[in-house]
Amino acid sequence: MQLRHIQTLEQKWIFPLATASILSLFLLMITLTSPNATDLLLPLHRYTAATSSFLGSKLQPVLVSNIPPPPPRLAYLISGSKGHDKMLRRTLLALYHPYNQYIIHLDAQSSHEERLHLLNFVNNCSTFVQFGNVRMITKADLVTYRGPTYVAHILHAAAVMLRNAGDWDWFINLSASDYPLVTQDDLLDMFSNLPRELNFIDHTSKLGWKEGQRAKPVIVDPGLYVTTKSDVFWATERRSVPTAFKLFTGSAWMAVSRSFIDYCVRGWDNLPRTVLMYYTNFLSSSESYFHTVICNAREFSNTTVNSDLHFISWDNPPQQHPKYLTVDDMRNMVDSNAAFARKFHQDDPVLDKIDSELLSRGEGMIVPGGWCLGSQENGTDPCSVAGNITLFRPTPGAKRLKILISSLLSDEKFRPKQCK
Ligand SMILES: *[C@@H]1O[C@H](CO)[C@@H](O)[C@H](O)[C@H]1NC(C)=O
Ligand SMILES: *[C@@H]1O[C@H](CO)[C@@H](O)[C@H](O)[C@H]1NC(C)=O
Ligand SMILES: *[C@@H]1O[C@H](CO)[C@@H](O)[C@H](O)[C@H]1NC(C)=O
Ligand SMILES: *[C@@H]1O[C@H](CO)[C@@H](O)[C@H](O)[C@H]1NC(C)=O
Ligand SMILES: *[C@@H]1O[C@H](CO)[C@@H](O)[C@H](O)[C@H]1NC(C)=O
Repeated sequence: MQLRHIQTLEQKWIFPLATASILSLFLLMITLTSPNATDLLLPLHRYTAATSSFLGSKLQPVLVSNIPPPPPRLAYLISGSKGHDKMLRRTLLALYHPYNQYIIHLDAQSSHEERLHLLNFVNNCSTFVQFGNVRMITKADLVTYRGPTYVAHILHAAAVMLRNAGDWDWFINLSASDYPLVTQDDLLDMFSNLPRELNFIDHTSKLGWKEGQRAKPVIVDPGLYVTTKSDVFWATERRSVPTAFKLFTGSAWMAVSRSFIDYCVRGWDNLPRTVLMYYTNFLSSSESYFHTVICNAREFSNTTVNSDLHFISWDNPPQQHPKYLTVDDMRNMVDSNAAFARKFHQDDPVLDKIDSELLSRGEGMIVPGGWCLGSQENGTDPCSVAGNITLFRPTPGAKRLKILISSLLSDEKFRPKQCK
């Protein structure tokens, strides 16, 4: 019974997969041969709509013309560690929209009580329960900072998303100390106008100091095989830089397409797997694994947008960790037009300022959007009554995002910065 179930599931997958790849090839050809990258902003959703309604229509012929495409959905992974329970809850509320999908995870360093507390919070929030779109990985992964277990954790969450979270279009990886600078209505409105193949990932092949300090050392992450947490250790041998593929590195934050995640997780091509094995012994592999795979995969290298959509402030010269942001950074954050910022101390006053000035979020509440129908009288939560969840009400944040995206997709920035 179990086996048959798996088989039919696989059969269900294979056909749409084949059609999806043919269609996406077709799509890519349209997208990629488009002479002017800003064209991408406009008419492409037509074609994308054809793809998704085709897949959803159980193989009936599709009328391409006037069916408006369903807006894209975002799949968020929000990860934290010991002591991050409260911060994670706040980030989740600031990012929540009933149309999206969420997976939250506190790693194995957090206590059982902390995880239980977070789980109770999710199970007790009537909106989360109503829409059933917040999941928690309760069997916590052991994640070593700088070790390959981080990449394993991302792939684990991505696989859960593919299997259980229904339709979604972009996978966005955040930590409990990140925070949005725009509402989800702004983001969904912006992503609705983009081809769904685009991958937002900051990357470069200029390794610089990382060649000597990241590519050549060989490390081992004990998190792979022991149950208690300890840091990575170094082998005495060093290795040469790969020649079978080209190394890329960049920011560990990304918003990548479903098709790219699918490619990495299911591995019908050997590249994602061999590169993963290579990165098992690579320091801080989460800043490099996806970057290397995407730029060495011909079907994806043309889909990269060289940005992580984040505002991050570094010391000069850069230290290992970014600076903690405060109210003094408010102006720069807004002016950056970025979608997210990091990193923040728990309950830093700047978060209250972002809540009130950019997100209109009441304390302990969800960010209001076009779907919230409740009254705001007497401090009640307007989102306690849900209306049409695909009705987006963009705020000035949408205008900022549009400026950012137009710049990233401009002729000077889009193609010239792909996998260089
Ligand atoms: C919801 O919260 C109440 C107290 O606020 C608590 O007693 C109850 O156990 C919680 N429910 C769940 C499912 O965690
Ligand atoms: C995803 O988010 C975590 C923060 O929780 C980060 O450390 C990690 O490197 C991120 N990116 C990738 C590609 O794994
Ligand atoms: C990607 O785009 C470049 C430049 O537009 C083009 O030369 C190349 O053939 C494209 N590659 C693929 C795989 O479509
Ligand atoms: C708000 O409070 C006032 C006075 O307490 C009450 O008359 C009114 O009905 C309340 N409104 C809502 C929507 O609860
Ligand atoms: C919800 O809003 C969207 C966008 O305005 C609209 O296209 C759709 O028809 C609405 N759905 C319902 C059920 O009213």
